[in-house]
Amino acid sequence: MDMRPIGVFDSGLGGLTAVRCIEELLPNENIIYFGDTGRVPYGTRGEDVIRKYTDEDCNFLESFDVKLIIAACGTVSSVAGDILHSRSVCAVDVVEPTARAAVSATRNKRIGIIGTAATVRSGSYAKVIEALMPEASVYAKECPMLVPLVENGWINEDDSIARLCVERYLETLKTMSIDTLILGCTHFPLLIPHIRAYLGEDVSLISAGGEAAMAAAEILKKSDSLTGASSLGNTAFYVSDKSQNFKNVCRIFLGRDPGDINVVDINRFTK
Ligand code: DGL
Repeated sequence: MDMRPIGVFDSGLGGLTAVRCIEELLPNENIIYFGDTGRVPYGTRGEDVIRKYTDEDCNFLESFDVKLIIAACGTVSSVAGDILHSRSVCAVDVVEPTARAAVSATRNKRIGIIGTAATVRSGSYAKVIEALMPEASVYAKECPMLVPLVENGWINEDDSIARLCVERYLETLKTMSIDTLILGCTHFPLLIPHIRAYLGEDVSLISAGGEAAMAAAEILKKSDSLTGASSLGNTAFYVSDKSQNFKNVCRIFLGRDPGDINVVDINRFTK
């Protein structure tokens, strides 16, 4: 048994898709969430900056003596996975579990990937898929504009801007007859209604945040590191800036009110 909290972070609020999944799978665990809302997006930045931010985000979570860190961010996992996994604390990224799930889901071996520019440039998901299923055809498309849409809550089914953006980004993938699509950025599950409406019901959608949360739950169970508590766990939320409609967007991601949200000066966590 291990009573310490689980640390989860993302460049913004997308990582809350992983928190939601952990809360459902492991309701007795305590969680510390950090969303770097003051510096989002990461996906349009260069590698050095993403790596520096990753280091600071991990330093912040480690100050809570977390037992495991989930990098609930496709960009961090793709560009700074080595920084994450070289730490003394156990860490889970989104790439490996998500790529595995896509390989299990595909029937026609045609897999699409959408993510940020940095994620697609890294080829991270494609590399894991090719290692697991060399005969697969993989098609990746960067969709940077979807991140600010989600961070600003422009996601409703009747939102024509979200619909048009999704359609424009997915146009080529749709012609490739993919039967599985990796939502390689943790912000994208909030656009599932638009993605489904455009691609149809037959395409399996694999959510990076959800897969990482399931992988983390497996690790904690296997290593006998769950709290063992019978009472509900607590999730504490930290961000580097509170935007105007922040609470509303949090509510959409989490499916509940987040309660108090703390602001942290993340620049203090440079080592
Ligand atoms: N949530 C981040 C990811 O999964 C993307 C947002 C960003 O560009 O910072 O890649």
